Amino acid sequence: MQKIIVAIDGFASTGKSSLAKRLAETLNYTYIDSGSMYRAVTYFALQEGHQGHIDKEKLLAKLDQIEIYFKYSKSGYQTFLNGLNISKEIRLSEVTEKVSKVSKIIEVRELLVTQQQKLGAKKGIIMDGRDIGTVVFPKAECKFFLKASPEIRAKRRQLEQIKAGNNESFASVLSNLKERDLMDSTRKFSPLTKADDAIEIDVSEMSLEEVYHQLLEHISKKII
Ligand code: CDP
Repeated sequence: MQKIIVAIDGFASTGKSSLAKRLAETLNYTYIDSGSMYRAVTYFALQEGHQGHIDKEKLLAKLDQIEIYFKYSKSGYQTFLNGLNISKEIRLSEVTEKVSKVSKIIEVRELLVTQQQKLGAKKGIIMDGRDIGTVVFPKAECKFFLKASPEIRAKRRQLEQIKAGNNESFASVLSNLKERDLMDSTRKFSPLTKADDAIEIDVSEMSLEEVYHQLLEHISKKII
């Protein structure tokens, strides 16, 4: 069967990662969470910075020292930075608060986009993010763009956070989501936007199960 590239873009907490992961398992494809790469660089920058501040020049000088890779194990999808498993750390609110600032930096984007394109060179990949269908794989055979109301997304994100042991108020989760939406959508380089040929789905009133089946139906049409 012909292998294709599936790009799933959209706003934070629309279920992109869970959907992409499950679809990749079903299709026996590789799953890549591009957001975890931006989070890994942000985590690195925070480590190199001072008291929660990021020193852009210092980050740029050390960009070539960043090695990010993934492993799939029983405990799920794991992100490694320079040999260290940082899967939990990259979900901390300190990282979430700064990630959209770091992902605006052109040098960071160039570095990560090149790595993402290499990962997809053999196709058979499902990647989720913000610019996968527009910049990383503009020729992807199947593109989706997911959206939902900010309140529904914030509720979902807050539940996820509670499960992970991070208690954050609904108001703070909502304000972070709105702030990131704005920064991601208005940045100069590869802003969050729907590719012309992407299938747009508003998941506000849909269960993850329903969205999964809808995506799988579209993908199946492309690979048969
Ligand atoms: O999981 P969540 O939806 O919160 O976001 P994520 O996928 O982990 O991405 C975190 C941040 O990384 C986004 O808010 C964007 O600023 C940035 N990002 C990006 O610029 N381009 C991508 N392809 C993926 C993420």
